[in-house]
Amino acid sequence: MAKVAGVGSLVVDVTAYAPHLPVHGETTVGTMFRMGPGGKGSNQITAAHRAGAEAVIISKVGNDFMSEIMLDHYKKEGMTTRHIKTADGVSTGAALIEVDEKSAQNRIIIIKGANDKITDTDILCAEDDFKTCDAVITQLETNIDSVAECMRMAKKYGKPFILNPAPFQKIPEEIIKNADYITPNETEAEFFTGVHIENAADAKKAAAVFIEKGVKNVIITLGKSGVYYTDGKTEIYLPAIKVKAVDTTGAGDAFNGAFAAAIAMNFEIGDALRFANAGGALSVTKLGTAPSVAYKKDIYDLVLKEYGINPEKKYE
Ligand code: RIB
Repeated sequence: MAKVAGVGSLVVDVTAYAPHLPVHGETTVGTMFRMGPGGKGSNQITAAHRAGAEAVIISKVGNDFMSEIMLDHYKKEGMTTRHIKTADGVSTGAALIEVDEKSAQNRIIIIKGANDKITDTDILCAEDDFKTCDAVITQLETNIDSVAECMRMAKKYGKPFILNPAPFQKIPEEIIKNADYITPNETEAEFFTGVHIENAADAKKAAAVFIEKGVKNVIITLGKSGVYYTDGKTEIYLPAIKVKAVDTTGAGDAFNGAFAAAIAMNFEIGDALRFANAGGALSVTKLGTAPSVAYKKDIYDLVLKEYGINPEKKYE
């Protein structure tokens, strides 16, 4: 089975749904409350797992009740926790999420907690998984030293290194230039390139800046406007798949995890993007982050319906 490995965050999502989001000083009565597993790293690794890959996360939790929520999630999914370590004196990562029910858009504050304490030794313990995996994925929700070390492991073993640069922040250029695939959304792409993005033409300009920095493949997700890809020579643009959105939280993670699985399974780039696009689209039709991540069969069905491609026949 194809394997995806990566350093990533484990975060307990505390989510409130409301008819509108409050302005400063306002109290709004919401309609629903949820608490459950999340974190960009965990959501993406979960998405890679549900998309058909063996998926291994290297991460850290605190010594508190929230760690149980995360570990239970991995047990229920049948995913390994062998590289999830515990840090004392710090909480498990937590996120406060507000979802606007009208637009399905969200606002998130994340407290990194134990995700900021991942050491080189923690990553070294997972060396075998880097050696035997087919793709490596990471984000910017753990300490940046751990992101750099994850990149070095990917390079050491010649594995495709997928960087989802979220949440955006200043990072060493070395990490960016070593990305085989970088997958920012429009806001993140603007932060790293200085190009304001409103459409695919702007995404093309921003992608050129990434290519200039040394990135091999650039994938800019544009929400409702689809996804733009280039390797500097060829381009692919996929419109978003039309679905009824109820919660867009974690859609980028569903896209990234499915994409990582597709790369690990050796899909051609166009098919990997279609597979990821379908994974992202399916996730917005359900509430939550990890719970909304789609399974391989549903992604395959949507890819067949939307693009007339049967990945099962082509790749299995
Ligand atoms: O991308 C969505 C995720 O961002 C949430 O699960 C939350 O934990 C934050 O990390």
